[in-house]
Amino acid sequence: MEPSELQFRKYLLKHFNLVTPEYEMNFRITHAREGNYDFTAADEICRFAKKHGLEVRGHNLVWHAGLPTWVNDPKITSEQLRIILKDHIQTTIRHFKVRYPSLIRSWIVVNEAIEEDGSFRKSPFTRIGNSPDEYIKLAFVWAHEADPSAILIYNEKHAEGINPRSNAVYELLKKLLSEKIPVNGVGLQLHVRIDEFPPPAEVMENMKRLDNLGLQTTITELDVRLPKKDFATRQALEKQASIYEGFVNSCTKQKSCKDISMWGFTDLHSWVPNYFKGDWGAALPFDDRYRPKPAYYSIMKTLTKNSAR
Ligand code: XIL
Repeated sequence: MEPSELQFRKYLLKHFNLVTPEYEMNFRITHAREGNYDFTAADEICRFAKKHGLEVRGHNLVWHAGLPTWVNDPKITSEQLRIILKDHIQTTIRHFKVRYPSLIRSWIVVNEAIEEDGSFRKSPFTRIGNSPDEYIKLAFVWAHEADPSAILIYNEKHAEGINPRSNAVYELLKKLLSEKIPVNGVGLQLHVRIDEFPPPAEVMENMKRLDNLGLQTTITELDVRLPKKDFATRQALEKQASIYEGFVNSCTKQKSCKDISMWGFTDLHSWVPNYFKGDWGAALPFDDRYRPKPAYYSIMKTLTKNSAR
C-alpha cells in the first residue's frame, strides 16, 4: 500500500480488507541509523487501516535487501549484529502492538532466505550464527517473544510450485517445526510473468505439503507482469486474467491458504515498471486510470464462485 490520493483510498476500501506496507517497514526506512527508529511512514498506513477496519500484515523483519548500509559495516561484530537484529525485530513488533493493539495479526518475519538452487542465501545476517539457518530460527524466536499471539510467516519468491527452492523451503520449515521454532505459515509471493508461471495445480500441491506440516499458507504478493509490447493487447490481458484466476482458485480451494494479497492493485502504483526498467508492466487488475481489466473480472468471478460453494 502506498499513495495518498483519494481514488487509491476509495478503491482500496471498496475491494480489500487487508493491507501490506510495500516498503514502509523495510529496515532502511524504519531503522536508517543505528538504534534510531522512525515508524512515521508505516504509522500513517496503520492509522488509516485502523480507522477503516482493515487488517495490516507486517512486511518484513528480516530481509537481505531493503537494508541501510550501516548494517553491512564489517566493524560490527557478529555478537553485536545479533543484538542489533533482536532489537530491530522486537522494537518494531512492540511499537505496532502497543500503538495499534491487534491491528497486525501476522508478520513476515523472514523474507527470501533461500536461493533458486535451494541453498541458503548469503545474507548480511548469516554471520550471526554458526549455521546458515541460525539467524532464521532466532528471528522467529525473538518475534514470538515480542508478540506471542502473532502469526509468524516465512515468505519466499519463486517457491510457489514444486522446484529446488520450494523443496528447500519445505525442508527448512520442517526442520524448524521439529525444533519447536514458533513459525506458523509460509507466504508464496507469486510475482510472475505472463509467459512464465508455475502451474496452479503445482501451487496447490505445494500448499498441501506445507499444510501437512501444520502450516498455513498465504499468497502474499501476487502480480502478473506483461512485456511492454503487450501492455494493452486483448490477448495478453485475457491470458493475464486466466493466470490470476488459476492462482486465486488454488488458494480458495486449499483450506490452509488463508488469504490472497496482490502487490498493489492499480498499474498506476506498481513496483514492476520501476524495478524492470520499463520492460515489464501492467501487472495488476486495474489499469493506470483505475479501470478494471479482464483480470479484475476473472478474480471476482472466481471469488464469488468459490465462496458460494
Ligand atoms: C518491493 C517494493 O514494492 C518496492 O517499492 C521496493 O523498492 C523494493 O521492494 N519481493 C518482496 C517485496 O518481498 O518486498 C518487494 O517489494 C518485491 C519483491
